[in-house]
Amino acid sequence: MTDDPTLVALASEIRACVRCPLHSTRKNAVPGDGALGSVMVIGEGPGRNEDEQGLPFVGAAGHNLEGLLSEAGLSRGSVFITNAVKCRPPENRRPTRGELDTCHPFLRRQIEAIAPRVIVLLGDTALKEFFPESTLGRAHGTSVRRGDLLFFPTYHPASVIYNSSLKEVVRDDFRKLGELVRTMT
Ligand code: URA
Repeated sequence: MTDDPTLVALASEIRACVRCPLHSTRKNAVPGDGALGSVMVIGEGPGRNEDEQGLPFVGAAGHNLEGLLSEAGLSRGSVFITNAVKCRPPENRRPTRGELDTCHPFLRRQIEAIAPRVIVLLGDTALKEFFPESTLGRAHGTSVRRGDLLFFPTYHPASVIYNSSLKEVVRDDFRKLGELVRTMT
C-alpha cells in the first residue's frame, strides 16, 4: 500500500463517504491499493470479498487479474488497482449512473495523484466512465489517448469466469498492454 499523503487522505475520505446509498449497505469502502507506478487499473466495483476486506480484487476476479497482469509482465504490487465505485453494490448488481457519477470525483482525484502513464479499463462499466459511446468489442486491446492520459480498455477478468472463449482474447490484450508499457519505459 502506498504511503503517498494525498492518496492516504483520499482513502480516509472515501472510507467516511456517505454521498450515495451504497454507504448504508457496505461493510468496508474499498478505496484502492497498490503502487504509484506507471499503470493504474480500474474495475467496476467491490464484490463480497472486497467489501469484507476493504481491498480491491481479492476474490476470484482478483486471482484472474493477477494471472493476466503477469501476461503483461506486471505484478499486482507494481500497479495501482481501484474501481469505478468504491462501495459494493448489493448482490453485486451493476452500479447505477447516479452512484457512478457520485463516486467519479474520487476516481479523478486518484488519477491526478497517481499520474499514471497508462490506465487499464476493465470491463464495460469502467470503459463507459471515460468513453460513454464506446463498446468493448471495438475498443478492447488498443490504447486511446485522451489529453495527457493513455487508456487501455479490455474485458473484465470476471468475464472469463463465465465466458471461456474470451480467455485467449483477454490474455492477448494483456500481452499487448505489456508491450505498450515496455515501449514507454
Ligand atoms: N470486480 C471488480 O470490478 N472489482 C473488484 O474489486 C472485484 C471484482
